[in-house]
Amino acid sequence: MTRHCFFAPCPRGLEPILAAELEQLGASSVQGRDGGVQFQGDWRVCYRANLESRIASRILWQVATQPYASEADVYNIARALPWNEWFTPALTIRVNVAAIKCPLRSLDFVTLKIKDAVCDKFREITARRPSVDTARPDIRIHGFLDAWKFSLYLDTSGEALFKRGLRERAGEAPIRENLAAGILRLTGWQPGIPLLDPMCGSGTFLLEAAQISLNIAPGLERGFAFEKLTKFDKALWDQLRKTAIARQKPKTPQPIFGSDLYGDVLAAARANLSAAGFSEILTLKQANVLEISAPAPFGFLVTNPPYGVRIGEQQALTEFYPKLGDVLKKRFSGWEAYIFTADPLLPKLIRLNASRRTPLFNGALECRLLEYKMVAGGMRRVRQGNVPQPTKS
Ligand SMILES: C[S@@+](CC[C@H](N)C(=O)[O-])C[C@H]1O[C@@H](n2cnc3c(N)ncnc32)[C@H](O)[C@@H]1O
Repeated sequence: MTRHCFFAPCPRGLEPILAAELEQLGASSVQGRDGGVQFQGDWRVCYRANLESRIASRILWQVATQPYASEADVYNIARALPWNEWFTPALTIRVNVAAIKCPLRSLDFVTLKIKDAVCDKFREITARRPSVDTARPDIRIHGFLDAWKFSLYLDTSGEALFKRGLRERAGEAPIRENLAAGILRLTGWQPGIPLLDPMCGSGTFLLEAAQISLNIAPGLERGFAFEKLTKFDKALWDQLRKTAIARQKPKTPQPIFGSDLYGDVLAAARANLSAAGFSEILTLKQANVLEISAPAPFGFLVTNPPYGVRIGEQQALTEFYPKLGDVLKKRFSGWEAYIFTADPLLPKLIRLNASRRTPLFNGALECRLLEYKMVAGGMRRVRQGNVPQPTKS
């Protein structure tokens, strides 16, 4: 099969783990860039990346990359492409443009030029043109311009890949699924090890962890734009889906625990987990994180606490963070805690020493994944080199 160039955007900070994931899925010439990973592969790799990547936001097929200097160059580069061989004019399109250091004056105008080029090409060859649908397009076309190079991509995913086709009800400030999956991977948590999210909101960490534990491919419940392309290889796609389904493990109970302070939030999490068929395999309860105890002697606590932007909320959080630190110290010895936050006050006020701080971006918001290893006997003794030994029972 022919090899193509692809680009997979992802939340910034997750590029290295996305690169490793794509290599596992068969991608070659894998190179991390800022905000995504460039790779090569055939359609099998592209289909698999859409179906199985937990970290990528999209898989974009690069159809052109050339030097440019003007809007006319952009138009000509786009117009020269055989759009009519890739999809029919009965499908709707949407063009998106992003740029860094682009000398052209208006990106809206560039967007229009690309759309015109695609439609003009169709009209020339087929006497018909696709209509534009910005809300639910069949085909998304992405243009990217830097100072001198213009690249065009056909989006093989359609809806972003963090939309797993599962979560029905979002809580307050839900984290994106691919960011949650990336965080789980960064913590080193493995299926079978107890996992707790004590501020679980809509249950994103729990849902991703359950899918990972049962080896469920994240894209099994949704459709993809590549299925609408003219050269879609249905036999290959059916075979890849079948293989993924055969790899799934039976739905047995897992040591995955979630709780949240609010009943309505928990009801949303419960609805989401049960829609995914996971209500029997993990444990959910309503609880204040400041009053819980560890559900197992050892495990991973992974959570993103509330982040207050309003003044009253900030005051409440200033009092909350030290108490959270106390709970971790007193009730979670033996655990590894990973706190994902955008709040620079949290690491200062939690009164624990982070052993690792990984910068990650939630959209444009700069966040940190803070690692706290809660060693039995408290952290101070460990810092003095007095590492506690496991006790014999
Ligand atoms: C940023 S949200 C978590 C979002 C979640 N990761 C998701 O993807 O939906 C923070 C959550 O902490 C919960 N929360 C706030 N204070 C809490 C407390 N004292 N104990 C337990 N949960 C709390 C809120 O109800 C909210 O759902």
